[in-house]
Amino acid sequence: METRAQWGTRAGFIMAAVGSAIGLGNIWRFPAVAYENGGGAFFIPYLFALLTAGIPLLILEFTMGHKYRGSAPLTYARLNKKTEWLGWWAVLVAFVISTYYSVIIAWAMRYSLFSLNQSWGSDTQGFLFGDFLKITDSPGAAESFSLVPGILVPLILVWVITLGILVKGVKKGIEVANRVFIPLLVVLFLIIVVRALTLPGALEGLNAFFQPNFEVIAQPSVWVAAYGQIFFSLSIAFAIMITYSSYLPKKSDITNNAFITGFANSGFELLAGIGVFAALGFMAAQANLPVSEVVAGGVGLAFVVFPQIINEMPFLSGLFGFTFFACLVLAGLTSLMSITETYVAALSEKFQISRTKAVLVGGGAAAFLSLLFATRGGLYFLDNADYFINQFGVAFIGLVEVIVIAWVLRKLGVFQNHANAVSDIQLGAWWKICLGVITPVVLGYMMVMLFKQNLL
Ligand code: PHE
Repeated sequence: METRAQWGTRAGFIMAAVGSAIGLGNIWRFPAVAYENGGGAFFIPYLFALLTAGIPLLILEFTMGHKYRGSAPLTYARLNKKTEWLGWWAVLVAFVISTYYSVIIAWAMRYSLFSLNQSWGSDTQGFLFGDFLKITDSPGAAESFSLVPGILVPLILVWVITLGILVKGVKKGIEVANRVFIPLLVVLFLIIVVRALTLPGALEGLNAFFQPNFEVIAQPSVWVAAYGQIFFSLSIAFAIMITYSSYLPKKSDITNNAFITGFANSGFELLAGIGVFAALGFMAAQANLPVSEVVAGGVGLAFVVFPQIINEMPFLSGLFGFTFFACLVLAGLTSLMSITETYVAALSEKFQISRTKAVLVGGGAAAFLSLLFATRGGLYFLDNADYFINQFGVAFIGLVEVIVIAWVLRKLGVFQNHANAVSDIQLGAWWKICLGVITPVVLGYMMVMLFKQNLL
């Protein structure tokens, strides 16, 4: 008897997978990464990474979840008793990410309100670090652990929404939420992009973004950046896509779903690049600076530069700002849901507890730990956690995953047959070559480089 939760519709699953993929990484990470790594020329390593690693791995994870119908640890255990730990490792990484990812969504939530009357004033950097985050000068001291109420309130809200949706289950919770949030996000973000494109200076911004610098393509670091972006952005090697696809009905076109998810995510990423750089072009024109002087990524882009852009906007600036931060919140929440679901599903299966209990225990623990980042030392802790996870979590799990499956257990053929039996697009030798040869070689090389950088 089939008692496992299932997606109600194919579109529901795709929305959820796309919702997980589209996140803060698309909006604030991609534009700056592309710009710094060759601009228009970055699309070559980026597309290579998408087609040889991103989508093939997505197909693999969808197939594993679909075949073994379990959370990541259970899926790996069913693959082979000895590999359960790999699932737990990915789940642990997801758990850690959720503790700080939630905090950034909380900031964005607060900033959507600040936008309405631009309460950050003219010194947006001073406002972020001083008035809002209340960053302490001495991160090691006891005062760095004191909570900042301005972050605490939205953070609680972020967790209440996320856990509230998860408690309702796969179909009634996650699927319904994504079916509302993702279309809304796309519409709101299109408004942002169109508005940004109609600002003076937008074209110079786009020129700066797309200007190809072909010389850098020969540099390994550019390829590392492309692979890193694809992995983070597609949420692969985090146990997420395995968990989500474990709720697929038996008849599901796995390969097609993976292509749709991969292209939708990259499409949104490109859109974000265009919107962000059009806005940066406007900013540069206002300040009479070259675009290169105003480019930023991450926290700096969203919470320092965007508020400045909003300050400079001719009319309806409050609304533009609110919409921009609402997009961050929506993109972030759908990703947070997916990361949290990985450990909720794993806990409930491993300890045979109800979904509600698993949400309370797992989600409660993550919410509690996220308080660490809502303190005066929060940004410092966050930077460190993020750095560590990105350097040693993602690519590392991805590498071990492909080596174990392709070479140790030699299961690629089994998965290929499984996917082909239910999919329109048939996987051929190219898929095995991508996963068995190209991906491990590139990721292995990346790991060696990273260890050299960090340890020598
Ligand atoms: N893919 C999401 C993004 O682009 C981030 C994410 C990473 C989500 C890891 C879940 C897990 O922001």
